[in-house]
Parts: sequence; C-alpha cells; structure tokens
Amino acid sequence: MNKFASQLLAHYKKNARPLPWRADATPYRVWLSEIMLQQTTVKTVIPYFEKFTQQFPTVEDLANASEEEVMHLWQGLGYYSRARNLHKCAKVIAFDKDGQFPTTEAELLTLPGVGPYTAAAIASMAFHQKATVMDGNVERVMARVFNLTLPLPTHKKAFKEKAIELTPNSENALYSNAIMELGATICTPRKPACETCPVQSECTTFQTNQNPEALPVKEPKKPKKVEHGAVYVIQDQNGDFYLQKRPEKGLLANLWEFPTTGWVGQSQTAPEGFEMIQSEAVMLGQIRHIFTHIDLTLDVFSYQGNMEAQTFQADNLPPLPTLMKKVLQTAQNPA
Ligand code: ADE
Repeated sequence: MNKFASQLLAHYKKNARPLPWRADATPYRVWLSEIMLQQTTVKTVIPYFEKFTQQFPTVEDLANASEEEVMHLWQGLGYYSRARNLHKCAKVIAFDKDGQFPTTEAELLTLPGVGPYTAAAIASMAFHQKATVMDGNVERVMARVFNLTLPLPTHKKAFKEKAIELTPNSENALYSNAIMELGATICTPRKPACETCPVQSECTTFQTNQNPEALPVKEPKKPKKVEHGAVYVIQDQNGDFYLQKRPEKGLLANLWEFPTTGWVGQSQTAPEGFEMIQSEAVMLGQIRHIFTHIDLTLDVFSYQGNMEAQTFQADNLPPLPTLMKKVLQTAQNPA
C-alpha cells in the first residue's frame, strides 16, 4: 500500500468521528447519508439522518411512504430534487430489486439520483470494493498533495487519475471515509491544519512551503442570473391560503408555492388572472433568495380574494421550500 494511504488509514482508525451512519454501514444507510451530505454539512445532516432512519428503518419502509411524508421530513435540507430521487430510488430497490442494492459501481450508477460520487461511496463504504470517491473535498486534497495547478472544472480528469493512483487495494470502506474526513476536517478550503496533518510527509504543497489556500485553482464562475418577480399571498374570506404546485421540471419542481409571476430580468409579467387584481394587491416587502444559478428578488403582495387554486388552512400548510417560507414570513410580519 502506498504511504499516503497507509498514513491516512492509521490516522483515521484512531480519530474517525463517530458519525451515526458509520456505526452500521449498510448499503441503505450509506446511500441515505451520502445523498443527504451532498451540498450539505455533516452537522446539518445528522438530525435528518436520525429522523429518516427512525421513521424508515429499511429501504422498503421508505419506498412505501407517501411522497408528502418524504418531502415533509426532508424540509429544510434543500435541493428538493434529491428527496424526490431518493424516494424514486427506494422504490426501484424495494420493488424491482428485492430490497437489495446492486453491488458494483456500474450498476449503482443506473439508480435514480446516484451519480459517480455516490456509486463509488456505496461500492466502497458498504460493499468494501475498490472504488474512488471524487468530490470537491477529494479534488482539493489531490490539488494540494500533488500541487496540481491545473484549473477546475476543465481538468477534473487529471485530479481523478491522481485519486485513483492513491486508492489502495484493501480497506476501501475505511479509505473512502478517511479521505472525505481529511477534506472535511484537516485539508479544509481555508486555514487547513497542515501542522497536524497525517499525510504532510506526502504533500508536495506542504513540503515545498507553498500556500495550500491557493489550491485548487478554479476557473471563474459564471455570474448568477439576476431575476425579479412578484409573489401573491392570497387569502380567502376564511383566511385560508391559496397555493399551487410548481411545474414538474426545473427549479423547486413539484413543490407548493404562493402564486408567482414569471421571474425575469428586472421586469414583471403578472400570471394569468392577476392583471386585474394587481391594483388591489398590497405590497408588503421584498425578499431575496440566492439559488445555485439565480439571484432572485420577489416583491411580496398580499390580497384578499379568490382564485382557482387549492386552499390550505394557515396551521396546516404543506411543506414549503425555504423561498416560500420567506414569503410567508414577510406576509405575516411586513417590514
Ligand atoms: N462528507 C460526505 N460524505 C462523508 C463521509 N463519508 N465522511 C465524512 N464527510 C463526508
């Protein structure tokens, strides 16, 4: 085994954080935790993981839950398409595959919501196969260990080749966890703990006294699209709220929303039926919400009236995405 891997493993065996999914690393628990951990920190994920595994101890339990129930438990974790794919994937495993996760990276990749990272994570962490997990953490570690100055994302392949080179032929479950842990706790984007790093002797950036914070080099990001729209918090004579479902595809797909106009660069078009009420609607404030690719500002209007949409009592609203929670808060506590 190469020195990087053996030193990393020795350190991990002594210092691994006791994360709940590590105790009993079944394919179901590894899959669930790794889907949750995408774009989210360990600290945020822990209570969600506990809730999900209590409510759904097996993949069959999750498959048999209603979509509303799954979305409700997921509420607050963001990136809701992950939750929908999670549910879809649970059904495939439970109903088409006899409750058994496939064991190879290639087969795992065919599951809904399972990309190269998650496939490698399950293959290694749950099935102890040789597979190389590659995400932003591992890219950062590779950039520093090999002092790779090629910019990302164009040169992703070069980083992956280095990561494959270091992957040992045994102890693959521990190794995948260990390299993720290194990126999350020691080889951090800012202020990495090089002085206590278990692989400093193998790290070119450290050994040549270069600045680890300068790595990895990233190509400039496209600026976010600035969009603007209006949202209408409409209550009927009983104070019930009108909500509608967003389209099946795209941003916040399939989630409930207060009716909004289209979101466009700086101007507004009212949705159907809203032209006539716009003059009677009261503007309560503005909210700003930053998505991965969009910087959105919505003018929040309230209106008493009727429209063709489903109503919900104020104390019995369905799960709302964070954007719509902000809208509701503005409507209830205008500036
Ligand atoms: N982040 C995502 N997956 C992780 C893991 N298995 N260990 C530590 N941090 C992680």
